[in-house]
Amino acid sequence: QQARISIDPAFVVAPVNRRVFGSFVEHMGRCVYTGIYEPGHPTADDDGFRGDVLDLVRELGVTTVRYPGGNFVSGYKWEDGVGPREDRPTRLDPAWRTIETNAFGLNEFMEWAKKADVEPMMAMNLGTRGLQEAIDLLEYANHPQGTALSDLRIEHGAKEPHDIRLWCLGNEMDGPWQLGHKTAEEYGRLAAETARAMRQYDAGLELVACGSSSRTMPTFGAWEATVLEHTYDVVDYISAHAYYQLLDGDHASFLACSVDMDRFIDQVVATADHVGARLGSDKRIDISFDEWNVWYLRELMSGQGGLPKDWTVAPRTSEEAYTVLDAVVVGSLLITLLRHADRVTAASQAQLVNTISSIRTEPNGPAWRQSIFHPFARTARHARGTVLDLRLDAPTTTTPTYGEVPVLDAVATHDADEGRLAVFVVNRHPSEPVSFSTDLRAFGGGQIAEAVVIADDDLTAANTQADPDRVVPRPHPDASVTDGTLTAQLPPASWSMVVLE
Ligand code: AHR
Repeated sequence: QQARISIDPAFVVAPVNRRVFGSFVEHMGRCVYTGIYEPGHPTADDDGFRGDVLDLVRELGVTTVRYPGGNFVSGYKWEDGVGPREDRPTRLDPAWRTIETNAFGLNEFMEWAKKADVEPMMAMNLGTRGLQEAIDLLEYANHPQGTALSDLRIEHGAKEPHDIRLWCLGNEMDGPWQLGHKTAEEYGRLAAETARAMRQYDAGLELVACGSSSRTMPTFGAWEATVLEHTYDVVDYISAHAYYQLLDGDHASFLACSVDMDRFIDQVVATADHVGARLGSDKRIDISFDEWNVWYLRELMSGQGGLPKDWTVAPRTSEEAYTVLDAVVVGSLLITLLRHADRVTAASQAQLVNTISSIRTEPNGPAWRQSIFHPFARTARHARGTVLDLRLDAPTTTTPTYGEVPVLDAVATHDADEGRLAVFVVNRHPSEPVSFSTDLRAFGGGQIAEAVVIADDDLTAANTQADPDRVVPRPHPDASVTDGTLTAQLPPASWSMVVLE
């Protein structure tokens, strides 16, 4: 099979927004405790932050980190996690059936974010709480000094204001599983009044309204329209969440799941623009795709892994051992997110450590890179400059879930200052290789600076504590440039990256 992409530096979608390479730290399973935070670990610093994890977070190239949830935030009292540790209450977290010690909270997270060199994206509780607690949190976190709450922060050891710019107005409020789940009307009103109040304190904040928890929600579309009718003038983003998994051994559909993400984005954009038109507004609402990943949710919910029966601190929840196949899918979801760079201007892979994560750790033991770490790290490092509007001419394959889809999907970024072109391409065919070519003459030719592929005869291979580098990108066996044309043979179920200079 033969496929071709056409690219030209003049045809630009939008600049690569670094916020697309965000991640997510939730108080869920061992993401925080024995993930990023483990006092007493051999690599822990004075704050109890694991140094091995911090190194991997920097290597992953994460730019923003959403915190503290997720479903957790909808029952969370931020006040429990600040002040002297010995005074912090231990509570039940019903979202994940765990005991929350509150040993780690807002000020620890902000300190960690500084060390990790990431921008915080703070979620507030609009499930069990509302406007007053939201503006209290804002005053505590961002006001410099001289008021009750800002002085309390200083007393708690955080002298400088945290100056958090990016805020989520709740989490997945469309989901019946959410504490304080609301109708679109109820949530839209609450989100609008909270956003308006927050802007009275600081007009320049960037605010995210909750969109749908998945494209399959029965309220999808109507939810976005109603919420945005209430919030259009006072928010910047509407969120989208999507998780995918291999179901019943159907490799073809799993490999093509970015088709769903693609349609999801198009439909949210259409809905947001429709509301803008009805309101006679020239303002544009962007998408914050602030939860996405491969997640074996069916297994979690069916009880094979299951939520813990007993209430414990930091149990092992959704500690996926990601495979080669999962890594290819994550690479393809990143291609989709980047292709929509004009409207998806923030995104967070869920999550960062141990729970549905790129990085795994053992308590008092090592940290390692999961298979999905690699496409993320390579894309975050090499997708620079602008996203190009490419044209793809590829054969198709038929999938049970998404029907006929092109076997290839691709995105290209161009850093004109550095004279670098990066092409990311996925072969979604489960069993057949595809020959791929692209004419580079519009770029004056080019030499390969780096060409790697993630592919394997064993698609179930995964990285483990015993074998942490079983799945890594390998040098591309035959990518080459001849007479200004890049060609490569793409193995079945593979993700490739070619950087040209
Ligand atoms: O990331 C795991 C969970 O998935 C989050 O807590 C929730 O928002 C979503 O349903």
